[in-house]
Amino acid sequence: MKTSGNTVFISGGSAGIGLAIAKKLHAAGNKIIINGRSEERLQKALAELDGAVAIQGDLSVQTDRVRIAQVLEAQYPDVNVIVNNAGAAFGYLLSEQTNAHERALIEMNTNYFAIIHFNELLIPHLLQKQEAAIVNISSLAVYGSHKLLPTYGATKAALHSYTVALRYTYEKQENLQVYEVYPPLVNTEFSSYIGGVNGIPASEVADELFDGLANDQFDIPVGETKKYAAAIGEAMAKLASQAA
Ligand SMILES: NC(=O)c1ccc[n+]([C@@H]2O[C@H](COP(=O)([O-])OP(=O)(O)OC[C@H]3O[C@@H](n4cnc5c(N)ncnc54)[C@H](OP(=O)(O)O)[C@@H]3O)[C@@H](O)[C@H]2O)c1
Repeated sequence: MKTSGNTVFISGGSAGIGLAIAKKLHAAGNKIIINGRSEERLQKALAELDGAVAIQGDLSVQTDRVRIAQVLEAQYPDVNVIVNNAGAAFGYLLSEQTNAHERALIEMNTNYFAIIHFNELLIPHLLQKQEAAIVNISSLAVYGSHKLLPTYGATKAALHSYTVALRYTYEKQENLQVYEVYPPLVNTEFSSYIGGVNGIPASEVADELFDGLANDQFDIPVGETKKYAAAIGEAMAKLASQAA
């Protein structure tokens, strides 16, 4: 995938990993469209991204997703890369017995259902492009569970499963590539509850995504996640050789 001359929409591009991706792709010569719920945060981020624009909205809300997709098609028809980065997580213990199911519903809605719907709205547009990409930001949580984020991991595992299916669906259509980025613990506001201060900088995730796009590497484990991805790759290869 080319790494300059794209028009890139980044959900949750006003802070953390999304902002780091926005900065990296902006510096490489891409047109950047960021999104977030807070207009104030968007304006602060835009001050660091000369020429970039913002579309305010909450991706977890269906009517906002429809509006944002319409704005993209009408006002930014060159958009050819969608980065689904905005996510929700609740840090708590199941033993607190404080509406785990309601928290899980919110997490699953934002991290899974909303992304499926938003992609569905935009795929017909993306398929008209010479080169297009969908980038889903999942997590190391795809590979395991954490007692402080008890209902979050399943949402990223679900996103992973959907992302693989989406990639298989369009694998013969070379103009639409489907990427998945798996960050480990990253030092952002999002991860403060689980010791995110010890995590890697968000810029490392952006650097890995950039290299992945440049090399058509659709699965992009970052940092510690690489160990898990390698171990699973080895196990799969062993199973395949035993079956042969
Ligand atoms: N940080 C980690 O350790 C880590 C590790 C693995 C994966 N991830 C994943 O990486 C992604 C980004 O996390 P982060 O750490 O960068 O978070 P962050 O620093 O808290 O930033 C989140 C960004 O998303 C926006 N946002 C949140 N909910 C939104 C919504 N419903 N609609 C639109 N925008 C929304 C926020 O702006 P507003 O608040 O103004 O909306 C902000 O711009 C998430 O999907 C997360 O699951 C994070």
